[in-house]
Amino acid sequence: MSRVMRIKGFADIFPPDGALFTAMEAAARLVFARFGFAELRTPLLEFTELFARSIGAETDVVQKEMYAFGDSKGRSLALRPEATAGVVRAYIDAGLNAKEGLSRLFTLGPMFRHERPQLGRMRQFHQINCECLGSGSPVADAEMIVMLLQFLREIDVSGLTLKLNSLGCADCRPRYRAALGDFLAGLGADALCPDCARRAVANPLRVLDCKVPGCRDLTVNAPKFADIQCSACKTHFAGVLDLLQARRIDYELDHRLVRGLDYYCRTTFELVSGAIGAQSAVAGGGRYDGLVKCLGGPDVPGVGFACGMERLALLMGKTDPPLPDFFVVSTCADAQKQAFSLAQELRDANFRGVLAFSPAGMKSLMRQAHKSGARRCLIIGQDEAEASAVTIKNMADGSQTTVSMSEVFSLFLHKRESEHGTIN
Ligand code: HAM
Repeated sequence: MSRVMRIKGFADIFPPDGALFTAMEAAARLVFARFGFAELRTPLLEFTELFARSIGAETDVVQKEMYAFGDSKGRSLALRPEATAGVVRAYIDAGLNAKEGLSRLFTLGPMFRHERPQLGRMRQFHQINCECLGSGSPVADAEMIVMLLQFLREIDVSGLTLKLNSLGCADCRPRYRAALGDFLAGLGADALCPDCARRAVANPLRVLDCKVPGCRDLTVNAPKFADIQCSACKTHFAGVLDLLQARRIDYELDHRLVRGLDYYCRTTFELVSGAIGAQSAVAGGGRYDGLVKCLGGPDVPGVGFACGMERLALLMGKTDPPLPDFFVVSTCADAQKQAFSLAQELRDANFRGVLAFSPAGMKSLMRQAHKSGARRCLIIGQDEAEASAVTIKNMADGSQTTVSMSEVFSLFLHKRESEHGTIN
């Protein structure tokens, strides 16, 4: 029979990497709760229009990267390429604005983008995503960044650069777009790469973050947002920077940081790493004050961020999984039931261990026990089964002793190391 293959860009996350994802999720829940955030789970599938309207019809994500298909009623559905749009849709659906005033929500899970797979870039990837809806204050922006940094500290990821920019608002952004558009038009038809030639008309801001060296050189003298934005946006951004400075948080201002999603306004930020190759952004976010209204909700401001879990996993230290406390074996069919019960009772008492499912010869069982890494092998043979006893073999030094069933428990409980739940 031929094998059914895995889809390109969709990874299986095997142990021990799965533990990194579990650790990230646990750290996220712990840290975000300190800031008053609660978990929201939204569907993986939404109407395509949700993403086209929020992320922007002209963005690469919507134009090229969505997994979109028609359902049996001819409606276009898409696997979520990011979480913000779905969170805002859910926020509007549930009328949270009226119920809560301010909503602090986080969501974890898989996202889907049909990009070219490479290190740190997958077609199914996982994000940890936070949204704060209901405040336009620069304090909310600064607190999101502080919370993100606290989460990264919790998972021991360091050495990242925080990049910041301000993209202006509905008042000043059109002026900037026009000025940038004029500048790009002045470069001539063939000066930019084919993607940027299209963007120069449809979405000129994206030309600024093109990675093609020629495009970067040509935009060195492009108009800067900082010179054009309105005084309210300037005051807002200065407020964010002031709060970050108060916490001694280092940052770099980057006027090319326009982000790939169209809903942003004012503050945008990214955390980048120099240690994971070309896909260096491990987190990104910003303010999106017009988004809730654009999706049919009230005029409520919002700010948020998302971390890429695959990229964070590349930066996290690998730790060995804890060793099992025991490995229970039986050498004959008569002893199997006792072995089965012993293993379950030890687990009921919070010890960690494995049971050999089939009785076998001693040599084979010891090989299995060594392979499991368990500190002790608990052996029940014919003699032990008849005497309701267990032989305990210390796998480190090979010494062994036979004790009654009840003694096994007192021995294990007595020797439990309070820190790790393991025995000596
Ligand atoms: P984003 O910058 O598109 O923002 O994605 C956030 C993070 O997801 C990136 O920094 C990166 O670490 C990770 N990521 C993105 N695409 C991939 C991929 N193909 N493979 C692996 N990792 C990837 C957003 O998604 C916004 N919704 C963030 C946000 C929340 N803004 C406001 N609230």
